[in-house]
Amino acid sequence: MVLERRLSTLPSLLGLLGLLGLAAAAGCTREPEPATYDLEALRDPETCAECHPVHHREWLGSMHAYAAEDPVFRAMNAKAQRETDGEIGDFCVRCHAPVAVELGLTQDGLNLDTLPREVQGVTCWFCHQVEAVEGTHNNPLRLAMDAVMRGDVLDPLGPDVHDVGQSELFDRNRMASSAMCGSCHDIVTPDGAHIERTFAEWQATFYGDPDPDDLERPAVYGLTCNDCHMNTSTGAIADYPGVRGDRSRHSHMFAGVDVAVSEFPDAELGPVLREEQLAEIAEQRKTSLCASLCVREEGAGAELTVWLHNEGAGHSWPSGAGADRRAWVELVARDGAEAVVYSSGVVTEDQPIAELDDADLWLLRDRVFDTSGAETHDFWKAASVESNLLPAPEGFGSSSDAETWKLRSYALDSAPTRVNMRVRLRPIGLEVLAELVASGDLDPAVVERASTFDVAPTVLEWTAETAVASSGEVDYGSCVSSSPGCGAPALK
Ligand code: HEC
Ligand code: HEC
Ligand code: HEC
Ligand code: HEC
Ligand code: HEC
Repeated sequence: MVLERRLSTLPSLLGLLGLLGLAAAAGCTREPEPATYDLEALRDPETCAECHPVHHREWLGSMHAYAAEDPVFRAMNAKAQRETDGEIGDFCVRCHAPVAVELGLTQDGLNLDTLPREVQGVTCWFCHQVEAVEGTHNNPLRLAMDAVMRGDVLDPLGPDVHDVGQSELFDRNRMASSAMCGSCHDIVTPDGAHIERTFAEWQATFYGDPDPDDLERPAVYGLTCNDCHMNTSTGAIADYPGVRGDRSRHSHMFAGVDVAVSEFPDAELGPVLREEQLAEIAEQRKTSLCASLCVREEGAGAELTVWLHNEGAGHSWPSGAGADRRAWVELVARDGAEAVVYSSGVVTEDQPIAELDDADLWLLRDRVFDTSGAETHDFWKAASVESNLLPAPEGFGSSSDAETWKLRSYALDSAPTRVNMRVRLRPIGLEVLAELVASGDLDPAVVERASTFDVAPTVLEWTAETAVASSGEVDYGSCVSSSPGCGAPALK
């Protein structure tokens, strides 16, 4: 047993470990043992994989596992270090490789290639060691540096390898759990720009409302990060003798909008994990937005109105890295002869949206400006932010919901017989990647792996036959919507 444990921390002996695994399956029983893994062993996610294989596999496909190996991260960090003469220091790695920073193995992230994988990314050990949240942004999390794996289980069966401890920071029914996630999902730059605001946004919406009688818990209609981002299923949470089979298990896939642009963790598993993440993202996105599309004839022309609503995200849409994300409305209107009479937001898969000469373009993104007021893609230089992301409702109820429906109108010279729309989303703008390639920091091959998504509920087709007349105070003509319950309130 002792040998097996020591070996399990050595990746070069994975093959041998496999053999030991086979031996276990063939009938060897674990003899109970008082010793625990040392801290070094517990820092390695591969150690956890031994007994928590499902958690491990899910995590491995998440952006948390990949955060320090992300080639875009590496490129931006390298550029930031160079351009600030190293003054940016551990600002980036503090969140993308927090274990390496905690252990004093890196000051600037430029030596990540020389460090073992187990100290890179947001690891099992990092999260499960958090004992206190000492701020609201820039990763103010305090680690215990002990062998206790903190979690949400009230009566865990303590394995012989690590201690266990229930903590409100890991309990989706507690507000504190959102503070744990949120304080890393909220960035203020050295020049004071609040460039990622996911936590602040969540706090401002009704999702972040605490129960007035018990401020530690979310209100009945409130939802924490984990409520939405860690789906539950019932089953065992560890492969270990004597465990219960009826635990509430939390998914560690952490789906958002991003997928790996490298083959992380390796050429064989990487593509499989990427497909699994893409499926999870598509599933989550089914409820993220609602849209309506209306056409009102006006003389020989028409007025087209698009409505968008953030329906399912507990923060703005998109959120987080809003300066790098690109989300926009694509519209194509045709006449009876199928000729295009109007379009906006149409680009090819490999064309940067910034190249488009399109005065009508409805582009949702953050724009950041440096101390001289010049716009920049180098977000570490940001001193101010301009944002037009789709907010989530602040209060619970229909009037607050109605306020967060956003609209744009478009003037057409001739009336269409068919209009198609879709909201498109790029986790990272191609123009941002192009700059990193131009500065020599990013491999051009990465650009080809960047994705452009269609946000499913916003893929709509308007024709006079399928549209329904609007009946609100203002006449918007006739409209189609994501679903009967998922249309702009002003049309009813
Ligand atoms: C980003 C932080 C984070 C990372 C990284 C992370 N976990 Fe968790 N984990 C959590 C949270 C939060 C919960 C509890 C969720 C809840 O109850 O709301 C949890 C719960 C668990 C549980 C208890 C059972 C369950 O499913 O609720 C186990 C076991 C676990 N994690 C193992 C792991 C392993 C193994 C890894 C790495 C492969 C890992 N975790 C990585 C945050 C994290
Ligand atoms: C030798 C097997 C084994 C290894 C290795 C192992 N665990 Fe566990 N872990 C367990 C068992 C067993 C439980 C309790 C399960 C139960 O009660 O249903 C558990 C429970 C947990 C819990 C829940 C604790 C709570 O109080 O809610 C967390 C979190 C956790 N493990 C994380 C980890 C992490 C992170 C690693 C890697 C550093 C790891 N485990 C390695 C067997 C293991
Ligand atoms: C009500 C459910 C809900 C809650 C609560 C919620 N989220 Fe989300 N979140 C979503 C959905 C849905 C998406 C995906 C939107 C899409 O892809 O269309 C998302 C996306 C994200 C993304 C990717 C955003 C981007 O555009 O880059 C991050 C990061 C994230 N959430 C973190 C958090 C954190 C941290 C919290 C808590 C402070 C939280 N979420 C609370 C539903 C929720
Ligand atoms: C140590 C800081 C840290 C903590 C704590 C943390 N995250 Fe993250 N999270 C990150 C980083 C960094 C990334 C993105 C890495 C990348 O794309 O390079 C990320 C990515 C994500 C994504 C995917 C975003 C996307 O665009 O696809 C989601 C969802 C997410 N985190 C949710 C959570 C939740 C829920 C928790 C709490 C259980 C949490 N995070 C805790 C740092 C953190
Ligand atoms: C406070 C923690 C924190 C700090 C500091 C931080 N990041 Fe991140 N980073 C995150 C989180 C969280 C995400 C995921 C956000 C999302 O999905 O919207 C992320 C996502 C990213 C991504 C992937 C998405 C994108 O924008 O393309 C890159 C690249 C990145 N960060 C680079 C950096 C660099 C470079 C720095 C330093 C200049 C830095 N980060 C500093 C937490 C942090």
